[in-house]
Amino acid sequence: MKLQALSQSLVLLSAVVPLGLAAPTGNADSGSNPPLRASNEALVGYSSSEKTNSGPPPDLKYKFVPGQKEDPDVGSYLDFEKADNPQPIRGTTGGDDPGPRNYNYDKINSDKLAPPGTDSGQTINAQWPLGLSRTRLGLERSGWARQENTVVMPDATEMAGVDMRLEPAGYRELHWHVAGEWSLVLNGSCRIQAVNEDGQTFIDDVKAGDVWFFPPGIPHSIQALDDGVEFLLVFDDGDFSEDNTFLASEVFLHSPKEVLAKDLGVPISAFDKIPDDELYIFKGTPAPKDIEKQNVTTASGVIPRTQSYSYHFSEQPAHHVEGGTVKIVDPQTFPIANNFSAAIVTVSPGGMREIHWHPTSDEWTFFIRGQGRATLFSAPSTATTFDYRAGDVGYFPKSNSHYVENTGDEDLVFLEVLQAPQFTDMALGQWIASTPKQIIKDTLKLGDSTLEKLKTDKQYVVAGTRNKESH
Ligand SMILES: *[C@@H]1O[C@H](CO)[C@@H](O)[C@H](O)[C@H]1NC(C)=O
Ligand SMILES: *[C@@H]1O[C@H](CO)[C@@H](O)[C@H](O)[C@H]1NC(C)=O
Ligand SMILES: *[C@@H]1O[C@H](CO)[C@@H](O)[C@H](O)[C@H]1NC(C)=O
Repeated sequence: MKLQALSQSLVLLSAVVPLGLAAPTGNADSGSNPPLRASNEALVGYSSSEKTNSGPPPDLKYKFVPGQKEDPDVGSYLDFEKADNPQPIRGTTGGDDPGPRNYNYDKINSDKLAPPGTDSGQTINAQWPLGLSRTRLGLERSGWARQENTVVMPDATEMAGVDMRLEPAGYRELHWHVAGEWSLVLNGSCRIQAVNEDGQTFIDDVKAGDVWFFPPGIPHSIQALDDGVEFLLVFDDGDFSEDNTFLASEVFLHSPKEVLAKDLGVPISAFDKIPDDELYIFKGTPAPKDIEKQNVTTASGVIPRTQSYSYHFSEQPAHHVEGGTVKIVDPQTFPIANNFSAAIVTVSPGGMREIHWHPTSDEWTFFIRGQGRATLFSAPSTATTFDYRAGDVGYFPKSNSHYVENTGDEDLVFLEVLQAPQFTDMALGQWIASTPKQIIKDTLKLGDSTLEKLKTDKQYVVAGTRNKESH
């Protein structure tokens, strides 16, 4: 509100005194440099009538994009990306915007600038572009990481996420954490290894499309193979921070050397060369191609297959539905990740992940490719529509309904992650179609011909076409 008032007064002021807001010229002549504060003539009621005449309103030049003039409740996606001067107008609602404004945000967030008429009130913020997170840079060009957690999405309490890149031979240092770590490999490949409480060992190579899980407290490491790797980490705690993990270097740095020597049964001099700071992300010796060379087997044996920390999800073919594809991995097939259920959804252009909600968990979403929009509906009557791009995080609280519509010209690919032992959702269409018709007619006043068309099977992703006709 204050900002709006300020911008209005700036517009008035600049109309009255065109140069009043010009940047300082650097002229050292104090005679021509106005003082920091003006006189009290600017107080309301003290200025002359000539000065308050701000002239005609600015004549803004803009064009409407397809869908912008229709009834706001139709709420079509407005493609502002190539629009010259997009305006906060839908149908007969809104008005033009002379600025100040950042066109880059407005062009890719048309549902924020000119929301559908069905949006209402204020929901939680369900979007965080990782492009707005500070990137933590690794040593010697070895990689980087950036994260989303409750610092930037205060209501995303159940899960947090990290996008991490390791260049070839780059390591994510040996470490452990209080949270459980679920991961989807996004690009390239890496070698992961861990040791559990019983001394059983685990090592595997994973590639784009595979997933892994490390339970709380289990120390592990990740090293990129020849093609480097990028992966997404999802933690079962919204407060998680990558900056607060237990690193191998730090546990050695913060234990007295006398204690380390006693603990490991070696002389104190053994620790002369330990790093004097954390390594976190750093370059290493390339991993041997043959994984057997790094397969440490002890009397405790290896971690049994049923408890494997990785699942080669890339090998699972996608299930086809009308508007795209869906793949699910949950504890039914990947038991060690006993509270992580996930789906990778592909939505063809014009298609849409159907309106649904998750009865058992919040949903943490990551956009992998393309662009889409979603409306978060929260009881009783608030709704916000968010526009997402690859690299954005989304968040939909338990039982809050949402859809994800492809708003681009290429496939939209995204990940849904739940904190639940099984991936489940309630689909609006299936619910309505499977309810006695009379109840639906009495409640929603839908006609018989509409009721005949409703499908009782779950659609997951529906097909459609993009709104492109011009207005
Ligand atoms: C990894 O990224 C590179 C560069 O964008 C791309 O050429 C390659 O196809 C990607 N690999 C996978 C498996 O997605
Ligand atoms: C490591 O060795 C064990 C025992 O020989 C074997 O069961 C396991 O499959 C090996 N792991 C890999 C990744 O080759
Ligand atoms: C799964 O996660 C939810 C949300 O954090 C939690 O309430 C539930 O207790 C967890 N269930 C298990 C089996 O860990």
